[in-house]
Amino acid sequence: MSISFDAAAKQFHLCNGNFSYIIRILENGSIGQVYAGAALRKNSAYPLLDPIPFPGFSNNDKTFTRFEYPANGNGDFRRPAFVVRFTEGAAVPEPCYKSHRIYAGKPGQPGLPSTYTEKDDEAATLELELLDAASGLRIILFYTIFAQYNCLARHVRFVNDGNKKITLENAMSLSLDLPDSRWNLITLTGAWAREFDIGDAPLRTGFQGIQSSRGISGAQTNPALILRRPSATENEGEALGASLIYSGNFIADVEVDQWDIARLRIGINPETFSWELAEGAVFDTPEAVLAWSGNGLNGLSQVFHELFRNRLARGPWREAERPVLLNNWEGTYFNFTEKKILEMAASARNLGAELFVLDDGWFGKRDDDHSSLGDWFPHKGKLPEGVAGLAQKVTALGIKFGLWIEPEMVNPDSDLFRAHPDWAIHIPQRPRTEQRNQYVLDMGRPEIVEHLFKVLSVILESAPISYIKWDMNRYITEPYSVALPPPRQGEFFHRYVLGVYDLYARLTGAFPEILFESCASGGARFDPGILGFAPQGWLSDDTDAVERLHIQEGASLIYPLSSMGAHVSAIPNHQTGRLTPLAFRAMVSFFGCLGYELDPTKFSAKEQEAVKKQIAFYKAHRRTFQYGNFYRLLSPLPGRSVINGPYPLNGRFAAWMTVSEDGKEAIVGVYKILSNPNQRPFRLKLAGLKNDADYQVTVWEEGGYSAEDKNLNCGNRGGDELMQAGLLLECTVHHSPKNGDFFSELFLLRKQGA
Ligand code: GLA
Repeated sequence: MSISFDAAAKQFHLCNGNFSYIIRILENGSIGQVYAGAALRKNSAYPLLDPIPFPGFSNNDKTFTRFEYPANGNGDFRRPAFVVRFTEGAAVPEPCYKSHRIYAGKPGQPGLPSTYTEKDDEAATLELELLDAASGLRIILFYTIFAQYNCLARHVRFVNDGNKKITLENAMSLSLDLPDSRWNLITLTGAWAREFDIGDAPLRTGFQGIQSSRGISGAQTNPALILRRPSATENEGEALGASLIYSGNFIADVEVDQWDIARLRIGINPETFSWELAEGAVFDTPEAVLAWSGNGLNGLSQVFHELFRNRLARGPWREAERPVLLNNWEGTYFNFTEKKILEMAASARNLGAELFVLDDGWFGKRDDDHSSLGDWFPHKGKLPEGVAGLAQKVTALGIKFGLWIEPEMVNPDSDLFRAHPDWAIHIPQRPRTEQRNQYVLDMGRPEIVEHLFKVLSVILESAPISYIKWDMNRYITEPYSVALPPPRQGEFFHRYVLGVYDLYARLTGAFPEILFESCASGGARFDPGILGFAPQGWLSDDTDAVERLHIQEGASLIYPLSSMGAHVSAIPNHQTGRLTPLAFRAMVSFFGCLGYELDPTKFSAKEQEAVKKQIAFYKAHRRTFQYGNFYRLLSPLPGRSVINGPYPLNGRFAAWMTVSEDGKEAIVGVYKILSNPNQRPFRLKLAGLKNDADYQVTVWEEGGYSAEDKNLNCGNRGGDELMQAGLLLECTVHHSPKNGDFFSELFLLRKQGA
């Protein structure tokens, strides 16, 4: 991995052997984008890469049409990477190259989550300093290239070195001008209980993209976008992805111009943002990660997975195996007593669960969702000996104890709101909108963060608590801070996010042994910003296993399995009414951090035995499930037929695979969603194995299997054969009538020899 500067060509080449990123200082001092893709040799000139000189971008450089961090108003009429307004009201900066620095390692970003290095030789960083001479505005572009991961971490620092106030009105974390538009744009969109829907459509001239203005990243849009070549599949072809390490309002878009140049941008949503830079003030954008793969979408996902798992997640839980938990929410909702909780915890312990999580309803006088958010002291009616008493009793049973909180919220019916009505976000003299009967606290105000840190620390210190589920159950309306003067209200949303990060940093810093899991009505704030503090998150309130095939598949485009909370729940499923076998539900949840979310005291003796075996199997293989290399083999989404599968399988089957870090074991899950009469047999090609190794293939018999599949596929098989020919499935007409809908099988592969 290296960053080189060719002084004669004024060119920077960032390369890690697989991936190259090349930019150049242009004649007029602005920065041109030359290349982002498969590694190129170091050359001072790349005549074939130079943009074709089109007219139209006069003030930048007549021969260049692709820019690295483009301004507005100077002849480049596309959407800019940043906008600043000067005191006199003009908004046309002319930033030019001033200096640069190249060094080993990666700097941190105060107040914001970001990727990091532990040793300087893991990465190299380029700081490129630009100066707008007329105003004194300095812009520093940061690029870090990692030796091990095919990606760049980028962010931008604005420094007002002038003697007049400057207002930032747009500050993208990343902008990239690609030389052609032959890409499909993939986005992750959705809604409550149906998060992470994969959208995949060819780019066209004009704008396309996603954004959030809800105050958090949102269930509707996830802060990432992927470009894949139209011919790229899960395992082959080129793909580029951008992911924003941020939990607030964002924009991620692509603009295809009249010359077919595709400008990709990701950053804070400028529609709800402005930031005043007084003399000497500094503003840092959040970090964005630009990942590249020559091995299709699985290759791209693996870059994100490894980076986020190893160099975004922090603390002792980064590498630790995550506990199998039982959460009481769908089992009891608000309706529980201490006795009931202890019965559930004992039963969970007997099944092999390692952690009992008490969800909403343990505090204030909360018996439904109308009251008490903000009152973080025990509900004495339900917990006569408080959280401490309960936690001690639960841990005495031999199972750890975890707790749900929703710190950013307040109900109008709460002691906190009665004491501090002004702490809830509102616009003076205007009505306040309630959602789920609650308001949002103004996390941009340090005294509120301080209060929350104090009251939550009291609870966390008072009891043996090993886990916290941090929820956030509404979006922000009437965005306004009474602590900011009117001209600076554009800072409100970003200050909110910084306040949330501050509280997260303080709590995780003070209680490093606690495992934090994030949640926002399911997956409404499942983003890399939060992953920087909470290494796992609750992906969706939808626990239906069929729906989860879609949701976990979509999330896996960017997020590692170690970050995905995945629970087995009761049937009929509470979100869909669907009945699926217990084994099918478990086998879907295995590909993530396994939990159960139901009342375990209601299991029959047969179900108890089955669950014990599920948990034991998962524990024996959880390193592979949580930290292995993950491959999507067959998509459950009909719309993805072009990517991976012959048409008749689409929507009816799904298949996932994970290969342990040491390559010694692999697990394949095959899920038949809807049964098909006389289904054609098919071969499921595996991935990530060694061609020249043999694997002992078995099925997990406790989960159910078909005798034909077992006979055909089990035994000693070559890695080459498994990848080139694949497992043979559905090889008899009897398969469908015998196994019906929602039939799943798990194949276990053990590498033979050393
Ligand atoms: C949200 C979460 C759920 C549960 C409830 C409790 O909806 O996503 O998992 O914790 O809140 O009110």
